[in-house]
Amino acid sequence: MTASPATGRRAPDLAVTFAGIELKNPVIAASGTFGYGIEFEDVVHLNKIGGFVVKGLSKEPMAGNPPPRLYETAAGMLNAIGLQNIGARAFIDEKLPRLREIKDTVVIANVFGYTREDYELTIEILNEGEGIAAYELNVSCPNTAAGGMQFGSDPRALDEVVTTARHYTKRPLIVKLSPNVTSIAQMAYVAQEAGADAVSLVNTFVAMAIDSETRKPRIANVTAGLSGPAIKPIALRMVYDAAKAVKIPVIGMGGISTAADIVEFMLAGATAVQIGTASYWDPRATEKIVDELQDWCAEHRIERLASLTGGLVIE
Ligand SMILES: Cc1cc2nc3c(=O)[nH]c(=O)nc-3n(C[C@H](O)[C@H](O)[C@H](O)COP(=O)(O)O)c2cc1C
Repeated sequence: MTASPATGRRAPDLAVTFAGIELKNPVIAASGTFGYGIEFEDVVHLNKIGGFVVKGLSKEPMAGNPPPRLYETAAGMLNAIGLQNIGARAFIDEKLPRLREIKDTVVIANVFGYTREDYELTIEILNEGEGIAAYELNVSCPNTAAGGMQFGSDPRALDEVVTTARHYTKRPLIVKLSPNVTSIAQMAYVAQEAGADAVSLVNTFVAMAIDSETRKPRIANVTAGLSGPAIKPIALRMVYDAAKAVKIPVIGMGGISTAADIVEFMLAGATAVQIGTASYWDPRATEKIVDELQDWCAEHRIERLASLTGGLVIE
């Protein structure tokens, strides 16, 4: 902690810890909105943010969905990118060596698959790579072996996929929950019992938009994931519900674009947060929000940001 020469007052401590990982601040760039990190090197001082989650990785490269894949909605965004990525092997060979050069920022690998074996094989490949602080399992994918229902919408499928991942890695495991469920508390609990070290939520909400003139869907895939400020109040409620249901740390996200938003998620029970869609509107959003958070804490005389977690006052 450093003292300001002007005021002699100590700068607020923004550090947070989850799953044995220490972050200098709770701001993590969300998967799919920050490339593999390197692409943002020229616009964001990567060592200023707490960490970033790379694009979802699968065992083989994937081309993604046909366009249009993005559509802006009222206070939000629809996307159906289709999890386009270079594959786990190419990530290790082509991206990770560069990422290891970035000091003082945590790199988290997001993993997805369409069968339990996909998760297993992708994790086995990634285990060979040095410099990955944790895995974040994206379970908002259709389980092709179970008729296409999302892993993250079925407690048994979720249990199986988390148990499998736990078996194949000793690295910290963050399970990223789907919001497209009846009880987020139940899913968070299932993830915890299957061996997750933390849960992160929320992923996008299944949604759609139609062009009333052409009568066609705005997104070629017809349905898409809704993100951005439009989902914030629902995401916040889900973080609150999940945090009450588990003992492991909760990483909150969904529509965060200001320091006050981060404080809301922490009061609801989040230990750290992720910023996704805000980086589409302003590529420097993650870095700017760290400065804003520092100022917010100073103005509110908060010495240790982590002390806010779970601090919601209900009278
Ligand atoms: C264009 C786009 C691509 C995304 N790709 C992924 C992905 O590959 N894996 C994943 O777990 N989440 C993915 N997400 C979800 C985000 O990481 C985040 O959970 C969601 O957008 C909610 O946060 P936000 O409102 O701050 O964007 C994606 C979101 C967007 C907008």
